[in-house]
Parts: sequence; structure tokens; C-alpha cells
Amino acid sequence: MNTIAEHHLFWQDESPLVCVERIEETRDAATFVLAEPAGRFFHFLPGQFVSVGAAIDGKTHWRAYSISSSPARPETLSITVKRVAGGLVSNWLLDNLHAGCAIPALAPAGEFALRPGDVPSSLALFSAGCGVTPMMSMTRWLLETRAATDIHFFHSARSEDDFIFADELLTLAQQHVNLKLHLFLTRPLGRIACHRGRLDATRLQALLPEREDTRAYLCGQDAYMDAVSEWLRASGMADDAIRRENFLPVRAATPAGDERFNLHVPAFGRSSEIAAGELLLDVLEREGLPIIGACRTGICGSCKCKIVEGEVATTSAAPLSPEDVSAGYVLACSATARSDLALHIG
Ligand SMILES: Cc1cc2nc3c(=O)[nH]c(=O)nc-3n(C[C@H](O)[C@H](O)[C@H](O)COP(=O)(O)OP(=O)(O)OC[C@H]3O[C@@H](n4cnc5c(N)ncnc54)[C@H](O)[C@@H]3O)c2cc1C
Ligand code: FES
Repeated sequence: MNTIAEHHLFWQDESPLVCVERIEETRDAATFVLAEPAGRFFHFLPGQFVSVGAAIDGKTHWRAYSISSSPARPETLSITVKRVAGGLVSNWLLDNLHAGCAIPALAPAGEFALRPGDVPSSLALFSAGCGVTPMMSMTRWLLETRAATDIHFFHSARSEDDFIFADELLTLAQQHVNLKLHLFLTRPLGRIACHRGRLDATRLQALLPEREDTRAYLCGQDAYMDAVSEWLRASGMADDAIRRENFLPVRAATPAGDERFNLHVPAFGRSSEIAAGELLLDVLEREGLPIIGACRTGICGSCKCKIVEGEVATTSAAPLSPEDVSAGYVLACSATARSDLALHIG
């Protein structure tokens, strides 16, 4: 039997995993069930993500995907991918990844997760679209481990056809009295009992019992999460009880003026221009330098690099330790130049 220490040891930098099953969820989303080739078990927290690498036209592009399976079934790990109009990696995975294919992956990461020993007795999950994936991992895990947690699961989608995990969630809600599913469909087809239209403050207040011990997890578009956070705060929930996960990449600020700096990477003998407001990651990738930008939202740490000269502005340092920060490490996906820069990658 595998031990936890072994779980940590098995994950090398870009461990190849094997897709052992593919499950079509909706017309534009599929689940990929991944296994470690030697059969070793996975160790992750419900709500965390893995980053997978798609080799497209000779280049590996990394993207983060929340794990949708439960850590209580550690022999496999699943990700559920939804098509994105014009998206590079999501569409490639859906068009190319089938049972039997290998795919490189980085170790599970992320703070948007439930931790054994710190599971609230009341949980409110709010997801929209494919934001359902981390919630699914949490729900499966809580129910499989028979946690004494009341779960209010609010999910919003366009119609029954876009409701990922519909059958399983409806069945789980029938089987478990501690799971209350509140489904909101903006264009319902009449096949499932649901709330019509969008979630709003009044409906939220009516459906979510007021309890001081409730913790909320939110995943969806920013506007959706902003609105839900505001309603929860208005109902008295503390800020630190509201956790959010953002699937969308950080966008570079529009450069103010036309100020430009020099970005020097001595180990590769390369220099290039970086505009004020431009992300370090965008420039390093444009230059073809070997940097992995997996989550592009400042949470995975894969784009860590060290500033050896110059000054940057940063929007996230979440996965960096205080020692990293004082040693000059920053996240290239969350940093812009304030002066000429010299940096080391990795
Ligand atoms: C922590 C984390 C967990 C994630 N979990 C999942 C998951 O479980 N399932 C899943 O399908 N995706 C998930 N994502 C999003 C995923 O990483 C990719 O961003 C997404 O698949 C699009 O990548 P792409 O290469 O296809 O699009 P890109 O080629 O990178 O982008 C194409 C265009 O689409 C926009 N775009 C990018 N992502 C999205 C999006 N999610 N919705 C709408 N527009 C978008 C971009 O801004 C760009 O304009 C997660 C992201 C993060 C950071
Ligand atoms: S790409 Fe994940 S922290 Fe920068």
C-alpha cells in the first residue's frame, strides 16, 4: 500500500500521467480520468488543481484544471475541461486526449481547498458553468467520508444541457439529507426541477439558513463572484469565511503612456523590451524562454523567477514563502516592470 510520503515523492517536475478513461459530460465538456503509470496513489486536497501540458505544434502549453474527483479515491485523479471559444489548450484536450494517451502534469496545488481537520460544519458552495469542478471534488469527498457537514450547493448554468455532473449531483442530493442542491438555469428546458433565472440576493437569503459557522466557496466569472460575495457579506458573513477561485488569467494592465524598459535574462544571454504594464510572463514566453505559466492567476508558483536587478510591481505572491519574497522571487504572471530588469528563471 502506498504511504503519504511516497505520494509526495512520486511527483517529479512534469510527471507524465495516463488518461485511463474519458467521460463526455455535456456537449462541450468532458472528464479525463488520469492515473500514474506505475499505479501509485495521488495525494491532494479537495478543491486543488493540477496543471497539464499540451504539446501543440512543438511547444508545450500549460494550463491549470481543478481536480473534480475525490481524494478519497486516490487511485485516479480527474479533470473536467470545458471548451472555450478560441481557446488553445481546452479545445486541444477535448479534440486529442483519449484513453491511452499520456500527458505531463505538475503536482496538485492551490489554497482553495478543504483540509482534513478544518472542515466547517456548514458549507455554502457557489459555482457557475465549469466552476462546478472544485465543488464536485469537495462534495464527493465530504459525502464519501461521511463528514458531518451541511452542504448548500448553489449552481448556475444556462440549461440542463450545460449542467456538468447533472445526473450525479441530482442523485447525490436525493441520497444525502445533508446535501441541498439549488440549481439555477437561465434557459431551462423543463427536464429538471430548478430555479428559473439567475441567483439573486432575495433567493439566496431565502435558501441559505443563517448560521455563524458557514464557510462559502465561490467559483465562476468575476461578476458572479463579486455579487455573491456582496450578498453574503450583507447577510453578516465575515470576509475570511468567503473563499474564491478565479479560472481566468490575469490580464496585463493597459500601459500608461509608452514607457519601455529593458528585460535582461543573463543565463540565456537575452535582452528584450518590456512595456510598462506588460506582464513579465508574456515577454518571457514571446522570447521563447523556458518558463511555465500554468495557472496565469498567481496561485500555482510555476512561473517563479528571481529579480536580480530592478524593480517590479506585483499583484500576487500567494504561493511564495516569505523567504522567497525577501530573496527577490516574484511570479512572472503577476509582475510588471517599474525599471530596467535583470532576472533568473526558476
Ligand atoms: C486554478 C484554475 C482552475 C481551473 N479549472 C478549470 C476546470 O476545472 N475546467 C476548465 O475547463 N477550465 C479550468 N480552468 C481554466 C483553464 O486553465 C484554461 O484557462 C481554459 O481551459 C482556457 O484555456 P485555453 O488555452 O483553451 O484558452 P486560451 O487560449 O488561454 O484563451 C483564449 C481566450 O479565452 C479566454 N478564456 C480563458 N479561459 C477562459 C475561461 N475559463 N472562460 C472563458 N474565457 C476564457 C482568454 O482570456 C482568451 O481570451 C482553470 C483555471 C485555473 C487558474
Ligand atoms: S503561472 Fe501560476 S503563479 Fe504564475
